[in-house]
Amino acid sequence: MTRQRILTGMRPTGPLHLGHYAGALENWLSLQNQYECYFLIADYQALGDHIDEIDRIRQSVWDVALDWLAVGLDPDVASFVIQSYVPEHAELTMYLSMLTPLNDLQRNPTLKAEMAQLEAARETLTLGFFNYPVSQIADILLPKAHLVPVGEDQVPHIEFTREIVRKFNRTYGNVFPEPRAKVGRVARLVGIDGRAKMSKSLNNAIHLSDGADVVRRKVKGMITDITGKHPRLKPTDPGIVENNPVFLYHDAFNTDSAELEDLKSRYRAGRVSDGEVKDRLVAVLNDFLDPIRERRARFEGRRKDVRDALLSGSQREKKLAEGTMRQVRDAMRVIYT
Ligand code: TRP
Repeated sequence: MTRQRILTGMRPTGPLHLGHYAGALENWLSLQNQYECYFLIADYQALGDHIDEIDRIRQSVWDVALDWLAVGLDPDVASFVIQSYVPEHAELTMYLSMLTPLNDLQRNPTLKAEMAQLEAARETLTLGFFNYPVSQIADILLPKAHLVPVGEDQVPHIEFTREIVRKFNRTYGNVFPEPRAKVGRVARLVGIDGRAKMSKSLNNAIHLSDGADVVRRKVKGMITDITGKHPRLKPTDPGIVENNPVFLYHDAFNTDSAELEDLKSRYRAGRVSDGEVKDRLVAVLNDFLDPIRERRARFEGRRKDVRDALLSGSQREKKLAEGTMRQVRDAMRVIYT
């Protein structure tokens, strides 16, 4: 029996953080043994809003690969793919962009939100960035993936992929399966500042590569009240657990549910300090990160192994991609000789 296929990916724009782990990597880890997985380092996509930061993207391709190895993704089981190693990504993006109504892109809620951020930051928005949902459809379709594990914010893109697949198949014949999205256990992790999303660009992330002291400093500085309306001045003040970033992180990473229930009930009753709840979180996160740090240290000295992993995964995907593109050109009748 052939296993169903997965494609999913990340942009190489910086070190990965706890939000990537809870929202995606944890999910990938459990899926890598059940599915034929292609994990994409989307460097074309990163160009969309980092065209003047090529060095950062190049560095980050390595950092992402190291982060993946450090959390335990296994390049002998799953394929790590560098998007630009397989230029078929660009070719399929071009064909699909002919099938994509401009209107649909303009209405895409994820794209809209990201564009608003970009415009505010630097008043530049390129056609390439605007087209990234289409390039992402090409990513998913090249290996003909059945399942796409993603964070909650990416779900509209998968819906969009399904629409384009139906249109393609209807117009040119059945070439692609309709992929499904799969959201992780923690759909979205708030930032240490309480903002909706942990993100490198907002400088509110705890990175998988942060040392123990950095984790301590970041957690100790976390806000506990997003609304700003319920300042808790002393440990005897009754506290609010719901939507409290410190407790959201406990929920995501503390596996000792008895301890967590105890902390919550004492917090509500005003019988534990913010400091103690944070100290416990520091311990929980550092325990979680320790094995990741160890594995990273091992791979850091083995750059050739990392390179081989990227190369062999990319080559595996390239074979599939070449086959898919032959079918696409055939179906669209763009062969003239
Ligand atoms: N857009 C994703 C991110 O922001 C990365 C990505 C690129 C992706 N291609 C993909 C995700 C295909 C899922 C499927 O990290």
